[in-house]
Amino acid sequence: MQSYTVQPAAAVRGEIAVPGDKSISHRSIMLGSIARGTTTVKGLLRGEDNMATLHAFRAMGVNVQDDGETLHIEGKGLHGLAEPADVLDCGNSGTSIRLLTGLLAGQRFFSVLTGDQYLRKRPMKRVIEPLGRMGASIFGRAGGEKAPLAIVGRELAGISYASPVASAQIKSALLLAGLYAAGETEVTEPHLSRDHSERMFRYFGADIETTLCGARVRGGRELEGRDITVPGDISSAAFFLVAALIVPGAELLIRGVGVNPTRTGILDILTAMGGSVELLDPREVSGEPVADLLVRSSRLKGIEIGGDLVPRAIDEFPVLCVAAALAEGTTVIRDARELRVKETDRIAAMAANLVKAGVPVTERDDGMEICGVEQLAGGIFESFGDHRIAMSMLVAGLAARTACTVNDVACIATSFPDFLPLLARVASR
Ligand code: S3P
Repeated sequence: MQSYTVQPAAAVRGEIAVPGDKSISHRSIMLGSIARGTTTVKGLLRGEDNMATLHAFRAMGVNVQDDGETLHIEGKGLHGLAEPADVLDCGNSGTSIRLLTGLLAGQRFFSVLTGDQYLRKRPMKRVIEPLGRMGASIFGRAGGEKAPLAIVGRELAGISYASPVASAQIKSALLLAGLYAAGETEVTEPHLSRDHSERMFRYFGADIETTLCGARVRGGRELEGRDITVPGDISSAAFFLVAALIVPGAELLIRGVGVNPTRTGILDILTAMGGSVELLDPREVSGEPVADLLVRSSRLKGIEIGGDLVPRAIDEFPVLCVAAALAEGTTVIRDARELRVKETDRIAAMAANLVKAGVPVTERDDGMEICGVEQLAGGIFESFGDHRIAMSMLVAGLAARTACTVNDVACIATSFPDFLPLLARVASR
């Protein structure tokens, strides 16, 4: 079990770029593989999660060349994938397994999806149940709730589905199945979750319409290969935004970050907490908004977070908890029950770590209350096998009284393989 220690930082300064967006990287591999013609992808995130998606499509006969800079995908068309000869291993990646389940439900072959010890505990009925209504035939452990999942490809029919949770993975699984289904497939959700699938469907020429809180796709139309440039991942930038806000005297420029409005909850929350984050040079790349972010050390204050801000910042809560721990007053997080079914239970994991760091925290079923302190205590913290918990506690270590060690940091490679050297580059003692 590999651990890593950070020392308190005297400054966080410089100019960085963060790796490509994980969600957009998954979708570009998926749509490129089932489109006709060649798709090129620049700026792809080469983390373990995205590599799991790439391996799955290679195992279904897709020819993909990677020259280290650009990925060249020779698309097979909607019905050109081949039956995989073995189980497809999605590793730690919830996006891979849930989106692939939707995509594979309408193929003319059999497939099995599995994942690591964490992924095999996560809920899958949320996609299997609505896919079943479309005619899909999918089996899993625990009555279909858990992977491994066995999928017997079938002809599907479109449905109209009101998802009880705002989840881009549910929405995207159904839209991918909808590409193969007869008629229209419509998904609505209580709040709009990230809309990268909808944008990329449109970019590839799918017959898709977006609605106020969801989308509608008509099946049967072939997609056309495209050239994609993946913007920097705002969820990865979030660790550096918070690092620069909590270390006195810090100033950091983060270039080329995706600022899709369904993902910028972190910017709204940090600004409401009193953080200085400026959005510079806004532009559009491959149908996605992009900007540079300039962040300066700030005196933060506690706020209340809930409602539609939650899906717009869903992956940023671990590091937001660190910002809240150093803010003046109390931060209340509610409507965030989904955090309990992420790579780990992120409410319990952050509460345990922050309490160790001397922060008063009260857990609630759907969130937590965090009372800010002047300074965090150093010590030994746990990642719980979750990349974002590991990175959040290393960021916390920059503003602690003494050194912070985080156990089991290998998981960081799922989304941000170069996080440790990048953190070391901007933080000085
Ligand atoms: C993702 C959707 C979110 C997010 C995950 C990536 C995606 O999950 O937490 O990291 O790429 O669609 P949910 O759909 O479960 O909220």
